[in-house]
Amino acid sequence: MSDQPDVELEARLAEQEEFEPPESFVEQANVTDEGIYEEFDENWPDAWERAAELLDWEEDWNQVLDDSNEPFYEWFVDGKLNASENCLDRHLDDRGDEVAIEWIGEPVDETRTYTYSELHREVNEFAAALREQGVGEDDVVTMYMPMIPELPIAMLACARIGAPHSVVFAGFSADALAERMESADSETLVTCDGYYRRGEALDHLDKAREGLDNVGHDVTTVVVDRLGDERTVDHRGSELDYDALVDEQDGAEVEPVTRDAEDMLFLMYTSGTTGKPKGVKHTTGGYLSYAAWTSHAVLDIKPEDTYWCSADIGWITGHSYIVYGPLALGTTTVMYEGTPDYPDKDRMWQIVDDYDVNQLYTAPTAIRAFMKWGEKYPEQHDLSSLRLLGTVGEPINPRAWKWYYKYIGNEECPVVDTWWQTETGGMMITTLPGVKKMKPGSAGPPLPGVSADIVDTNGDPVEAGRAGHLVVNKPWPGMLRTLYKNDERFINEYWDEYSVPDRDQWVYFPEDGAKIDDDGYITVLGRVDDVINVSGHRLGTMEIESAIVGVEGVAEAAVVGGDHEMKGEAVYAYVITEDGQEENEEFRQEIIEAVEDAIGPIARPEAVVFTHELPKTRSGKIMRRLLEDIANGDELGNTSTLRNPDVVHEIEQKVQGD
Ligand code: WTA
Repeated sequence: MSDQPDVELEARLAEQEEFEPPESFVEQANVTDEGIYEEFDENWPDAWERAAELLDWEEDWNQVLDDSNEPFYEWFVDGKLNASENCLDRHLDDRGDEVAIEWIGEPVDETRTYTYSELHREVNEFAAALREQGVGEDDVVTMYMPMIPELPIAMLACARIGAPHSVVFAGFSADALAERMESADSETLVTCDGYYRRGEALDHLDKAREGLDNVGHDVTTVVVDRLGDERTVDHRGSELDYDALVDEQDGAEVEPVTRDAEDMLFLMYTSGTTGKPKGVKHTTGGYLSYAAWTSHAVLDIKPEDTYWCSADIGWITGHSYIVYGPLALGTTTVMYEGTPDYPDKDRMWQIVDDYDVNQLYTAPTAIRAFMKWGEKYPEQHDLSSLRLLGTVGEPINPRAWKWYYKYIGNEECPVVDTWWQTETGGMMITTLPGVKKMKPGSAGPPLPGVSADIVDTNGDPVEAGRAGHLVVNKPWPGMLRTLYKNDERFINEYWDEYSVPDRDQWVYFPEDGAKIDDDGYITVLGRVDDVINVSGHRLGTMEIESAIVGVEGVAEAAVVGGDHEMKGEAVYAYVITEDGQEENEEFRQEIIEAVEDAIGPIARPEAVVFTHELPKTRSGKIMRRLLEDIANGDELGNTSTLRNPDVVHEIEQKVQGD
């Protein structure tokens, strides 16, 4: 093995635009029949029963799809089930002693293994504890936790008693936590004392407490002792110790609550165009069927596999493809607490090697980092257990795709580039790995039963090769049902743009741009709204702007996403200061900190540019496109419609001078 990339091979790969699924994969794949596309077309929507049939139902549905009140679709109507029963109880007879969760801590050698029986026991105990604390059906429980086993345990405990969960990413700020708890009227919080990042124990509890200070109602807080240090709960307040609660419930069993297919399983807040995060509502029957079906058909998960998705459970990817999909299928799901570069840049490959991981699902931003670090890290390990690779979260450039295919998959694993969103619940556009050829850079055709198009601003399909807006023309089981307590915003955000209600045409607009080729393969180009995608994380520019204008001395701010080699996009902030405010480094830091406080370190601006004006149209709208061009160092677009064309060049000079 050498540190030098194989030049001949790279040249061959660079030219290759299509890749057939490796035969060794196809031979054993869960789905291999190309006819499945037609079957879904001809038998739509009933073909979706195939997804629901992967689950155990207490009562069968009477109708697959109820579309009588569009766009408030209902799936598997009258069906009854419980998600925790589907992820745990039903596996006990056959797979009780098999591993459900392999948890790998950041400190090397700190691991925990939960068999299905053990996980079942702990989930039951915590479900009993939550009940005893007064949590009832339909009460929203918030989790503000990093990647520790108690997070999926708490999620499944909630599912067991019919209490929807709302998981807030641990990297979000105290303010972000408070906003989400207020919005969901959530009176219970599960959090922890801290966690490890690159060898350092980080505090988490103070941040949670700070958030709670800004919640207007009483909250019961359960604290998990992750660090095992002296500092634990504040017994004077309403904080409770997780271990003590669970110990009290030793061996308790909680009958899974019968939930209607359409009952809410969870809420997940995500960024949108306007300032306030959107509470995306997912249901028990449709969502779980969809997560299980896509895990089966796309990730090719089988019960005997060891499967690893390296996302954080604080995002939708972790919900669907660390917790619900894999556990519904009874497989072993790996959960890793740390970062890919600690203690060294081979940590991921060490884990694949040690645990004989069969499928790896990660993000393009991670793959770009691996590529930069070089193939010498994967080459130190035996990765031959891998059978399938996946990516999600942002477009993947063909070079990164090919690197992943070659150096991680050894040209023997299909790569699935999966396009989807928090709102879609699961994958929508990707190749079926045992059926379709792959084209690096293009996610692929819509999955069977999913109907997508690329349209122009009139809603008419564009020619192959032309950029347009991606739309979804038919409902699907995993779709969001509404925005929490805000049906009106649900319609405005997703359906207004392209639907023609008079003609009963309901079209979902995900706010992504895309193009399609002659084979029907879709290349997703990125967001067309004011959402930016930093390392696969969705951030609303408005949310960042409102944090910045909250800083004393700031008069106005505009935030855009600029291209970034590693992160995909990065945050660029253009700031107008008030008279008398000095534009110095100290003030710049103050602005950066304000963004971190309001949202979290992931939203930290790459650059803060002071300017005395922002480019505006005659009607006073900020021309963000020009600000993006400046951030990217691109040729500037048309400036003739501006009220103040000179300012653009002024800002450009400032940025270039920085
Ligand atoms: C982007 C993450 C290109 C897209 C599951 C979408 C992608 C947003 C891909 C949703 C992909 C996700 N190719 N772009 N394979 N996957 N995106 O809600 O812009 O965090 O709208 O869900 O990520 O981000 P979200």
